[in-house]
Amino acid sequence: MFRWFVKDEVEKDVLSPDKRTRCKLLLKSGRISYSVYRDNKIIIRPSRLGFKICGEKPLTEDFKLVRAQSKRHSETIELQWGEDRFIDNNYTETAFYFTESKGFKRIMTLRIRVFNNSVAFRYEIPPQPKFRRITIKDEITEFNIDLNAIAWKIPAYQPDRYEYNYEKTIVYDLKESVHTPLTLKTPNGCYLAIHEAALYDYGSMTIKLDENRSLKTDITPLSDGTKAHVALPFQTPWRLIMIADSAIELTTNRSMYALNDAPSQDFGWVKTLKFIGIWWAMYVGEWTWAPGERHGATTEHAKEYIDAAVRLGIAGLLIEGWNEGWEGDWLENGINNKFTVPTSDFNLEDVARYAGRHNIELVGHHETVGFVDNYEKQLEAAYNYYAINNIHYIKTGYAGSMMMINGRREYHHSQLGVQHYQKTVELAAKKHICLDIHEPIKGTGIERTWPNLLSREGARGQEYEGGALSPSHACYLPYTRLLAGGMDYTSGILDLANSVKRMATTLARQLAYFVTIYSGMQMAADRPFIYEERFPDAFKFIRDVPTNFEKTVPLLGEIGEYYVVARKDRNSEDWYVGGVTNEKSRRIHISLDFLSDGVYRAEIYSDRDDAHYRENPFSTNIQQKHVGRNESLDLYIAPGGGFAISLQKLR
Ligand code: NOJ
Repeated sequence: MFRWFVKDEVEKDVLSPDKRTRCKLLLKSGRISYSVYRDNKIIIRPSRLGFKICGEKPLTEDFKLVRAQSKRHSETIELQWGEDRFIDNNYTETAFYFTESKGFKRIMTLRIRVFNNSVAFRYEIPPQPKFRRITIKDEITEFNIDLNAIAWKIPAYQPDRYEYNYEKTIVYDLKESVHTPLTLKTPNGCYLAIHEAALYDYGSMTIKLDENRSLKTDITPLSDGTKAHVALPFQTPWRLIMIADSAIELTTNRSMYALNDAPSQDFGWVKTLKFIGIWWAMYVGEWTWAPGERHGATTEHAKEYIDAAVRLGIAGLLIEGWNEGWEGDWLENGINNKFTVPTSDFNLEDVARYAGRHNIELVGHHETVGFVDNYEKQLEAAYNYYAINNIHYIKTGYAGSMMMINGRREYHHSQLGVQHYQKTVELAAKKHICLDIHEPIKGTGIERTWPNLLSREGARGQEYEGGALSPSHACYLPYTRLLAGGMDYTSGILDLANSVKRMATTLARQLAYFVTIYSGMQMAADRPFIYEERFPDAFKFIRDVPTNFEKTVPLLGEIGEYYVVARKDRNSEDWYVGGVTNEKSRRIHISLDFLSDGVYRAEIYSDRDDAHYRENPFSTNIQQKHVGRNESLDLYIAPGGGFAISLQKLR
């Protein structure tokens, strides 16, 4: 449909293919706003749109609509790896072309896409006379949701970036900025998550309640106080509102990926990976990152870990603390990191050859401590160094509270931060390197376009165990952080009662994480001797569970309380089920009707009745039985516990 007209007042609906979700565009007295309805109930009241621009009249008023163009799109997208191989990209779209009625008559397009389970829109500003480069002072996009809606939030602009415990509050109390995905439940029972998709070259969106009691976009500022400097043509990331009838349904909303572009080059070389690491030994104080008597990353330790990886059947090995720059307080001294200079007790070439001979993929490590200037100077050489040594995976880290870019302190989630992360992803793609970014920019689905971005951290992970994680944390993640894509949670720490880092989980729950928390690079995070000598039976699940799934079926759950999910392997007929609970024990009944016909051998790793994350975390049942799709399983989950099941198809 294609229409030419000039209108001062417009009210136009964009309706989802199943007609349950509706976005209404309103142009009144020159101002543009939108609202969102689900089953004819309003869930986002009229909300303003537009920008304030430095040195220019704001792009917020005196608009007229000159043209609106609608289309239906229906397609199935295939993702190279992830939680689901196929995702729907079905939507109705209307592009609204506006022009100002006064002054320079600037033009701006608002493109709205309505999926069955999401509303998304973005602004597009084409180049136009006297309007070529602009500095965004503020984006005023509002999300006017009921002030009594419940919100699950983490704060923005804090020193630990996204690494905070989720808190439940009401929208009325969101006076400080919070990160997205911001998960919400409206008083009429609708679940929403406000997020963004395809974040490139722009500050990341945080959200706060403004003076008018509207939830409003607060784009992360640059150190000069502005939000972004952009050249036209410019388009914002998609502003995305995921919508579901239940919390568990929200967890498989994949519109974020559908809103990103298909890859523009061949990524056939990208493979998901499970890896162990010269890593947790540093957290429990056995080894150190810095050189010295207890240095972890020595040639000898690396070869021992490679041998262990072979015995364990794990394909990769991460080596942290291998390079110069860790001496002293590494968080303070990170400016000294040299990414092409190994410590004197670590021979990278030798270790890489040894890994190659044993078919083990090394995962390199670049801890920048946020000193982006220092890193960017070395970037090309650092990636080349790994590439020529056949190292195809790098874990990067930005542990500082702010980044140092162009000599100034900038937020990780500012436009300059976003640009830097993107530079690493694109350079890595050129060198056929996959990335696992710690202290990252949040996920906005760009791994559809850049599948070499296999994982991120971007929330509290298990390194916070030993006091700062409660059992509810991993029950919040699937409904909040994980809506933004996979996470390297560093699962599989089985030495639960270690006096330095006591885990707030049961043993079975550590296995469950490999299913409940997806990551394209999945770390089996404990030391190899723990797996080989103490828990060989439980370790079998960690070895068996895949890192690439065909299909994900969310089964049961409530935000912050529990979560149960089934996933089918991408390369076989086998299924894996995982479940976790908060401090409360639960009895769970799951129907196996997601299986296909036939007989499956179930291996069930579950908490015993006397298990408890504090008092009795090791109390685990491992049991086998044959099951089919007409059967169901009854499982007990202990306080702070979980379960993991593999279902291997026999015939
Ligand atoms: C923080 C990362 O999350 C962790 O995995 C890493 O070991 C340390 N920084 C050191 O780089």
